[in-house]
Amino acid sequence: MAYQLNLNWPEFLEKYWQKKPVVLKNAFPGFVDPITPDELAGLAMEPEVDSRLVSHQGGKWQASHGPFEDFDGLGETDWSLLAQAVNHWHMPAAELVRPFRVLPEWRLDDLMISYSVPGGGVGPHIDNYDVFIIQGMGRRRWRVGDALPMRQFCPHPALLHVDPFEPIIDVEMSPGDILYIPPGFPHDGFTYEDTLNYSVGFRGPNGRDLISSFADYALENDLGGAHYSDPDLTVREHAGRVEQYELDRLREQMMAVINQPEDFKQWFGRFASTPRHELDIAPAEPPYQPEEVQEALLSGETLMRLSGLRVLNVEGCFFVNAERLTISDLKAADALSRYTELGQQELGDAVNQAEFIAELTEVINHGYWFFEE
Ligand code: SIN
Ligand code: CO
Repeated sequence: MAYQLNLNWPEFLEKYWQKKPVVLKNAFPGFVDPITPDELAGLAMEPEVDSRLVSHQGGKWQASHGPFEDFDGLGETDWSLLAQAVNHWHMPAAELVRPFRVLPEWRLDDLMISYSVPGGGVGPHIDNYDVFIIQGMGRRRWRVGDALPMRQFCPHPALLHVDPFEPIIDVEMSPGDILYIPPGFPHDGFTYEDTLNYSVGFRGPNGRDLISSFADYALENDLGGAHYSDPDLTVREHAGRVEQYELDRLREQMMAVINQPEDFKQWFGRFASTPRHELDIAPAEPPYQPEEVQEALLSGETLMRLSGLRVLNVEGCFFVNAERLTISDLKAADALSRYTELGQQELGDAVNQAEFIAELTEVINHGYWFFEE
C-alpha cells in the first residue's frame, strides 16, 4: 500500500525541523497498519532483527534484548515490544518510510516499531535523533517536554530515563497522527489500549564518530604520513613546556589530513552509506547473465533497491553499502542513487551499453537490486 502523507514540507522544515516538536494531526488519512502485532513478535524472534522488550511491573523497570523464544508469561499490561529497522525486513512496513524521501537519505536511520499493551512504554527519555512517531492502531497519549538540561539516570542498565518534566505537548494520538520530536526534547508515551507506533528516525553523526571513522579511513589508506617538523626551532629555556605555536602547528597538521577534498569525499561516501542495522541481503540465485538483465530492462521490468540499502551520490562519486559503486555511466549511477524503483526510462541509454549492463548485473547478483516479482 502506498502511504499518502499530508505534510507541508517547506513549512515544516522552516518552523519545526530540528527546532521544536509538533503534532501533525491526521497526517496519514485513513491510516492502515502495515504490520500486525503478531508479525512484529515474529520478527523479534529472528536473530538478525534488533529487538527489545521493556516492562514496568510493580514499579520496577525491566528490559531485555531479543531474539525472543516466546512471549509466554508477559501478562496483559505494562510492557512494550520494540523492533529496530523493520524497514529492512518487512516490505509493507518499509512503505511507511517512502513519504520521507524528501529528506536526505544519508540522514535516515531506520523505522522502529513498537507494540504496547495498556500501561506499556519505555518511560520518559531523550533521544539524540529526530523522530517522526506515527500512531498506528489504538490511541496513545504522548507528552513532550522542553529541551532543558535534565538529569538522566538508568532505572535498569539497558534503559536511560529522565526526571519527570512539564509537558509543552500533551496529546492523545489517533491512527494516522504524527508526533515529530527533534533531538533533546524529553518525551513519554502512555497507553490504555493495545497500540502500535512507528518511529521514522533521522540521526546526525556526532564529531566523535566522524573523527573515529575518518581515522580508520586514514589508516587503511595511508593518509597523513608526514611527520611534524620544526626547522625553525630555537633554544629552549624551559624544555618541559609545550609552546602555543607548537599546539597550533599540531592542530594544523591534523586538519591538513582531513582537509583534502578528494579523500574527504571518498571517506564520507563510505561512512554515510554504511547501514546502521543489518540488511536482508540475498545474492541472486541462480545468478543473472548480463543478457537476461538487459532483456528484462528492455521489456519494461522494474528494478527494486534492497530495502534499507544506502546508495549515495557524493559529488559525482557513487557509494553503496560502505563501498564504491562501480557504474561507469554517470547518469545511470545517479538514477540508482536517486530512485528506489527504476527501469529503462530512469537508466536511459546505459541500458544499451554492454559495460553498464555487466556492472549492473554484478550488483544485482550481489543482492543489492532485484527485479520486481
Ligand atoms: C515507543 O514507540 O514507545 C518509543 C518511541 C520513542 O520514544 O522514540
Ligand atoms: Co524516544
